[in-house]
Amino acid sequence: MDLEERARAVLPPAVFEYYRGGAGAGISRDEATAAWRDWRFLPRLFQDVSRVSTEISLFGTTLAAPVLAGPTALHTLAHPEGEVATARGVAAAGSVLVHSARAGVPVESDRWWFQAYVLRDRSLTEAQVRDAADRGARAVVLTADAPYVHRSAIPEAGAAAPGNRPPEWRQDPALGVDAIAWLAGISGLPVLVKGVLRPADALAAVAAGAAGVIVSNHGGRQLDRAVSSAHALRPVVEAVGARIPVLVDGGIRDGADVLTALALGARAVLLGRPVLWALATDGAQGVRDLLDACRESLADTMAQAGLATVADINASVLVAR
Ligand SMILES: Cc1cc2nc3c(=O)[nH]c(=O)nc-3n(C[C@H](O)[C@H](O)[C@H](O)COP(=O)(O)O)c2cc1C
Repeated sequence: MDLEERARAVLPPAVFEYYRGGAGAGISRDEATAAWRDWRFLPRLFQDVSRVSTEISLFGTTLAAPVLAGPTALHTLAHPEGEVATARGVAAAGSVLVHSARAGVPVESDRWWFQAYVLRDRSLTEAQVRDAADRGARAVVLTADAPYVHRSAIPEAGAAAPGNRPPEWRQDPALGVDAIAWLAGISGLPVLVKGVLRPADALAAVAAGAAGVIVSNHGGRQLDRAVSSAHALRPVVEAVGARIPVLVDGGIRDGADVLTALALGARAVLLGRPVLWALATDGAQGVRDLLDACRESLADTMAQAGLATVADINASVLVAR
């Protein structure tokens, strides 16, 4: 929250409001963080936590912590170098950047995944995805929860604004589950589906070839009053978690939130707005500091809970509040 206030002080008000915004009355956005705090920890005693490791491996990449930078549009509104600076900070922290299809500039990094929308003209999507694969993206994230860009989420700032794009560049509102295999075919990469809240949709995604799912309500920016990801996570994990990694985002702000998500069965989490606040206040270094702080906060919380490695985390460390 301190970071958000610092970003508010340096960003043009219209950009700050675009980043912070939620759909409708902002109910889903406002509930997201509180929802993680509906659980309490049951710490384990007599565990050797003299060394705590937060490291994980995901689709062949080792991460310093199970925390990624999620896809958010238009980083150039926050910093002149845009996504290039974000990617540098992310790599320095040993994390992965999920690069938005609506990014301000392309990234050069070996620690990134590409987030795709399937556009009304699929040849445009195909060109973007092939280009991302050529430039070293390690996975494709298909965002499936945005048939239309929510009107209130459109920034005024410039021609890059999604609402200012010609119709063929808009998301295909008739998107079907076949898009998963299509994206896997053209990219040769694992495809994760983002925006899953229902176990049945997770099962359908896996049946259609998804390599992972991301439980998300898009930061409350699409369907207001969509369920919090903190509450949608466990049923999705129960449906598909034994077969594919389940990731989650929405309102995750500190190590205790991350530990809660992992105990509910998430393999990793993504941060949305905090990365934008960090980029706006301190560029690449700010992004690195944010991810480092999140890793340290997770390590501290794990130690206090008696958990020396990520593999030690399971549902037994949680109890309902
Ligand atoms: C300014 C902004 C732009 C976003 N743009 C995208 C996008 O281009 N693609 C996408 O899949 N999700 C997008 N999202 C949603 C994020 O990936 C993520 O689901 C959400 O922000 C997580 O919640 P948090 O901001 O509370 O951490 C955006 C979110 C914000 C705040």
